[in-house]
Amino acid sequence: MFKNLKQRWKVTSLQLALIICTFAIGGSATGFAAKKILNWLAIDHDWLWTIIYILLIIIIWPLAVLVVSIFFGQFRFFSGYVHRLGVKMGLVKGKSQTTDHELYRNSLITHYPPLINIAVFASGAGSNAQKIIDHFRESSSVNVALIVCNKSGAGVLQIAENENISAILIEKEKFFRGNGYLDELKERKIDFIVLAGFLWKIPDPLLKAFPRRIINIHPALLPKYGGKGMYGQSVHEAVISAKEKESGITIHYVDGHYDHGDIILQVSCPVMENDTPEELAHRIHALEHANYPVIIEELVSKLVK
Ligand code: GRF
Repeated sequence: MFKNLKQRWKVTSLQLALIICTFAIGGSATGFAAKKILNWLAIDHDWLWTIIYILLIIIIWPLAVLVVSIFFGQFRFFSGYVHRLGVKMGLVKGKSQTTDHELYRNSLITHYPPLINIAVFASGAGSNAQKIIDHFRESSSVNVALIVCNKSGAGVLQIAENENISAILIEKEKFFRGNGYLDELKERKIDFIVLAGFLWKIPDPLLKAFPRRIINIHPALLPKYGGKGMYGQSVHEAVISAKEKESGITIHYVDGHYDHGDIILQVSCPVMENDTPEELAHRIHALEHANYPVIIEELVSKLVK
């Protein structure tokens, strides 16, 4: 139950505890104040007592929790909570109509408190996915919430299972002709998407819903050795046969083209004279593992303002 609440409200364990305390103390204070007022009014009809008691609870409870929330540092959460409750009861006007995308984007910016949910899109062995999961394992503000994979039997699915992280195996038709699994991502309150060995282009609905919130890692120094078909060993084979003296990694934002989009970081490493593609791949993987989780942390920390 607590895990569901954490997900639903996007809160850390500590914040959930503070919220529960606020509910408990605010609720008790409300009952206490309502009974004091009723005693003072000295009403002797049972039915009238009950009606006034309910009315007093409705009026006092929001004020009580808001006041108590200040002491627990949860005013922002409760002002939103009380407002939403008022809208549901028809007592307060909701926001003007916004599109689905705007609503989702706004919720990413204004949600409180800041538990950022990451989805990792991967379809290979998943060594980068594993490093990202390890990096955020103890984090109270960032959560690897979902693995998205397009290849049944991929190693990354086993990692998801071992780590008890939910995974979706996506279908090409739905990914490209539907809305790119946006509903599934919204359902899981995903804030940020990390590609780590995902070979399909990202469709428009996702690019629009996650502006500068989708990044990729490529095992070469882009713009060289990128584009369709340039993945895995074929990248390293091309680098070696071109007798490059150095190769490296590129972390970049994702746009509608393969291995294209603003570059966030490049790190290079030497290519040795007798390197095999496997040896170079090994060196490049080490660079990826050392840099990708750190860059992800830097970027998602900027989402929490
Ligand atoms: C990495 O080399 C990455 O650069 C590329 O795909 C590979 C994925 O490797 N985009 P792994 O599945 O994380 O081991």
